[in-house]
This record gives sequence, structure tokens and C-alpha cells, in this order.
Amino acid sequence: MKTYHLALLPGDGIGKEVIPAAVRVLNAAARGFALAFEPFDWGCEYYLRHGRMMPEDGLETLRPFDAILLGAIGHPTVPDHISLRDLLLRIRFGFDLYVNLRPVEILPGLEPPLRGKRPEDIHMLFIRENTEGEYAGLGGRFKRGTEDEVAIQQVVFTRKGVERVVRYAFEQARRRPRKRLASATKSNAMQYTMVLWDEVVREVAREYPEVSVASYHVDALAARMITHPESLDVVVGSNLFADILTDLGGALQGSLGLAASANLNPGERRGPPMFEPVHGSAPDIEGRGIANPIAAIWASALMLEHLGETAAADRVMTALKAVMAEGRVRTPDLGGKSSTEEFAAAVAGHVKA
Ligand code: NAD
Ligand code: IPM
Ligand code: MN
Repeated sequence: MKTYHLALLPGDGIGKEVIPAAVRVLNAAARGFALAFEPFDWGCEYYLRHGRMMPEDGLETLRPFDAILLGAIGHPTVPDHISLRDLLLRIRFGFDLYVNLRPVEILPGLEPPLRGKRPEDIHMLFIRENTEGEYAGLGGRFKRGTEDEVAIQQVVFTRKGVERVVRYAFEQARRRPRKRLASATKSNAMQYTMVLWDEVVREVAREYPEVSVASYHVDALAARMITHPESLDVVVGSNLFADILTDLGGALQGSLGLAASANLNPGERRGPPMFEPVHGSAPDIEGRGIANPIAAIWASALMLEHLGETAAADRVMTALKAVMAEGRVRTPDLGGKSSTEEFAAAVAGHVKA
């Protein structure tokens, strides 16, 4: 029987609560194949013991796995720019996982939080550039601590980096019924990087005449997500722009606890793909057992799909939707009283039924 080797990185805060929930559902869904999980305790507690977020050879340890399932990173005891760069961004960059795919859809039983909008009006797929842009990490601080202090953070956009993610977005748009692509830009103010971005979008668009493409300045695009969400299908954006827009996407779905993501390197494999919720470690609710595990469960379904186990992925999403449609079991962020575990048990029960 085919066995998939999965690295589990629950990380910090509610990551340690939603990953066990997702594993419970995954175990229920594994039929005709096996899942072998290997947990790693990397994160902020590990940092406090070892002075780093993961071992020096952590990427080499992860490389042979078929996929990584990550919860969330970040705890008030470690500065965020250290914890996130040294673990999450290191994996995304180190394995060149240049696509960050983030679906924004309304689950059955939920209403969009926008007045007058129907569930089907919110159906977007974000394709976020995941390896360069505003997150390149180049820069420095000068005259630190003095009144003349200067901080410089360089953004990096390469033609290759923009082109590959834009092409992936066109490929996704081409396969969807509406065949629309929106590109997030800011070329009115950023005359080098965003003008290059726009040029590449126009060039790649010529290869996809069946896709209708529109460029929106990112500020107007944020407003459009609220005023005309039905006009948006696939959306492609830079690392920072799409980061911001996808938390807005989570809010449109009804809770940040619903938004899932896949970090992929389509075409060339430099390391395993990584699947994770969009949300963070939520220190404000950690340890209470009330985190919504939907994002982690949905991310697990994306993982099964990308492993080629589409029937199992469908089983998970069908069960998730059935539990949501029933509406009896819900975590507090959605107005319910159920715990993380109760919700996961309900979904796992449906998967098995
Ligand atoms: P956050 O996403 O952790 O929390 C924002 C708000 O949403 C909080 O009120 C939280 O309670 C709520 N929320 C998030 N996920 C939820 C869930 N599953 N169920 C119910 N409510 C949920 O964002 P933040 O507060 O800005 O960041 C907290 C920490 O997480 C920081 O250290 C940050 O850097 C880190 N972070 C990590 C990741 C990641 O690892 N992928 C992503 C975002 C933020
Ligand atoms: C996300 C998170 C991360 C990001 C942070 C924690 C570095 O917000 O996955 O959306 O910005 O990519
Ligand atoms: Mn984010």
C-alpha cells in the first residue's frame, strides 16, 4: 500500500491545537493508502531551549518528506521577525515554494458578512507570490539607536519570479468556469517593481486569450473585495499585497479560522510542498481548546489533493461541508460553543460514515 510520509510542524499557540484536529480527520480519510506522520517540536519553545527555531540542517531533514503540514508560528516570548523568518519563511524560500494558493469561499451554512451578498458571490482563488518581493529580507539598519537612525528594507522583483507565479495564476484561471484573472498592482506609486509586474502580466496574458485579465491597484482591489466580490475569480499578487488581501479574504469567509493555504513549487521539486492555515498562533485564545480547526482541515484536504489522493480530499471537504451545513457543531469564532476537538470529531465521524 502506498504510504505518504508527512512532516508535522504544529509550531506555536493554536498551531498545537489545530494540527492534532487535522490529523484526526486525515486518519479518518486515509483509505487505500497510508499516512505516516513524523512530528517535529520546532517553534518558539524550541528556540528558548536551543537559540534557534529549527536545527541548522532542518531543511535537509524535511526534504525527503512527501509534504509538510504546519500549524502556526509565533509567540510573544520570541520577536516575530526572528521566529517567522527562521522557520516559516526559511521553508518557503529554502524549498522555493513560489506559489501560495489561498481559496476564499463561503462554506455551507454560513452567510457572507457583507450585506446583500450571496454565498456564491464570494468565490476567489488567491495566488500569492511566495519567495521574493517585499519579503526578500534585504536591507539593514544604520546609526542604530541614534536620532539619525535609518532602516532600509529592499524589495526584489525578478522577471523570472513574477513570470512563473503569473503564469501559474493564468493556468488556474483558464481551468475555472469564469476564466478571470485580477492582478494586484501599485504601479501608480512604485515605478520600477510594479511596472515590471504589470508588463509581465500583459506579456503572459497574450498566451491566454481565453482568460479575461484586469489589473487593479491594490488599494482599490481591497475595496472591490468588499463592494464587488462577485467580480473576482483568480487574483494574483505579490508577497505582501496578497498577504494583506488574504486576511481580508478570511474575514469575508466569516473567520480567519477558515482560510487555508498551500505552498507549492509547481514543475520543479526543490523540496516538499507545505500546507498550512492562513491564520497565526492566536496567543489571545491559545490553550483554551476553542480554536477553529477548519483552516487546518481544509489545508489537509489541499494536501491530499496535491498528493494525488483526490477521492480522499473530496471525502474531507464533503464531510467538512456537511458538518457546517448541519450547523450544530461550531467553534466560538462562528458563534458556536463547540471545542476544537468536538468539531474535528464531527468531521472525522462524517468522513468515516
Ligand atoms: P492571528 O491570525 O494569530 O490572530 C488574529 C485574530 O484571529 C486573533 O483574534 C485570533 O484569536 C483570531 N484567530 C486566528 N485564527 C483563529 C482560529 N483558528 N480560530 C479562532 N480564531 C482565530 O494573527 P496575529 O494576532 O496577528 O498573530 C499572532 C502570532 O502569529 C504572531 O506571532 C504572528 O507573527 C504569527 N503569525 C503566524 C502565521 C503563520 O505561522 N503562518 C500567520 C500569521 C501570523
Ligand atoms: C501568512 C503570515 C506570514 C506571512 C507571516 C507570519 C510571516 O501572515 O502566512 O499569511 O506574511 O506570510
Ligand atoms: Mn498573513
